[in-house]
Amino acid sequence: MAELMDAVVFRRAGGPEVLKLARLARPRPHIGEILVQVHAASVNPADDKMRASRVAGAVLRRLHGQAIPGMDFAGTVVALGRGTSRFDVGDPVYGALRPPHSGSYAGYIRVPETWAAPMPNNLTFEEAASLPVVGLTALQLLRDKARVQAGERVLVNGASGGVGTMAVQIARIYGCHVTGVCSTRHMETVYSLGAERVVDYTREVVAHAGHFDVVVDTVSKLSLDTVRQLLAPYGRYVATLPRRDTLLYKVTGRLSAQHQATRFVAVRPDARDLNLLRRWVEEGRLRPVVEHVVPLARAADAHREVHAGHSEGKVVLAVLHGGSAPLVSA
Ligand SMILES: NC(=O)c1ccc[n+]([C@@H]2O[C@H](COP(=O)([O-])OP(=O)(O)OC[C@H]3O[C@@H](n4cnc5c(N)ncnc54)[C@H](OP(=O)(O)O)[C@@H]3O)[C@@H](O)[C@H]2O)c1
Repeated sequence: MAELMDAVVFRRAGGPEVLKLARLARPRPHIGEILVQVHAASVNPADDKMRASRVAGAVLRRLHGQAIPGMDFAGTVVALGRGTSRFDVGDPVYGALRPPHSGSYAGYIRVPETWAAPMPNNLTFEEAASLPVVGLTALQLLRDKARVQAGERVLVNGASGGVGTMAVQIARIYGCHVTGVCSTRHMETVYSLGAERVVDYTREVVAHAGHFDVVVDTVSKLSLDTVRQLLAPYGRYVATLPRRDTLLYKVTGRLSAQHQATRFVAVRPDARDLNLLRRWVEEGRLRPVVEHVVPLARAADAHREVHAGHSEGKVVLAVLHGGSAPLVSA
């Protein structure tokens, strides 16, 4: 008989209430994959969007029989697929999955070994699970898209969120002068992450914050007129969400007149980048910011909170083994 595990699934697109706890067969690792017993998974806005999307959920349900959300994980390697060489059974690992792989809100997941890395040795599983997607996104935005240089002035909009808390710290690691933008409640945290200045968008006009070589817009809420005012000549606007309106700006020459550029990131799981984040965490230069840890069975509440869009850092799901009672049966 197949061994079972708890997992959060959804069988139709909809609000957070469509998430149900179910008992499913444990997956087995394919070639080049490891099997991870998950101890923690974190919630990303992408999980909320995928659950609400008819198309994304339908693709996953077709592939796997049901859709399991979740990209981030931290856990222990419990089995090795053929052709793997990076890990041993018992290793604590963290990493990120991406569709069409089945998600991380589950007791066990199969993971391509190139999407995982040894977990930072000074973090709990919950802290480690908060890092991969937002850490990789901030790193790939700043290093690959903005190509930041030491001494540059960087403004991070949405500095208190998952990606923002990472972007503030990673820009500092690259030797930049960082200004963070957030609401009053989060200002102290953003200063504590290394921002030299924090702008409270509920009280100040962000467009008047100064001139910057790089504007990182994690929430894509800045108007393009504001972006144009904030960017110095040759400045780069980098964002987490593609914006159709930037095309208009390029066509009309309103950004290109001053050689300003816009770029977007699509995060990719990458063991080398996970190892870099791990090194920074172990050196004490990068720290996770976790708003709450809740049990896997409360995934729907966690989605409601992330959907509201005002968390400080991450909301994390703790995955218990041998203790949690299923709400529905598969
Ligand atoms: N392209 C990719 O590969 C990729 C990767 C990761 C994330 N993303 C996307 O990037 C976005 C952000 O992700 P995340 O994980 O950072 O989200 P998040 O953690 O949910 O962001 C929440 C933060 O946004 C801030 N915020 C909300 N409205 C704001 C405003 N008007 N101005 C400034 N800050 C504001 C909130 O601060 P206050 O409470 O102070 O308002 C809160 O701290 C999501 O849409 C996500 O899907 C894309």
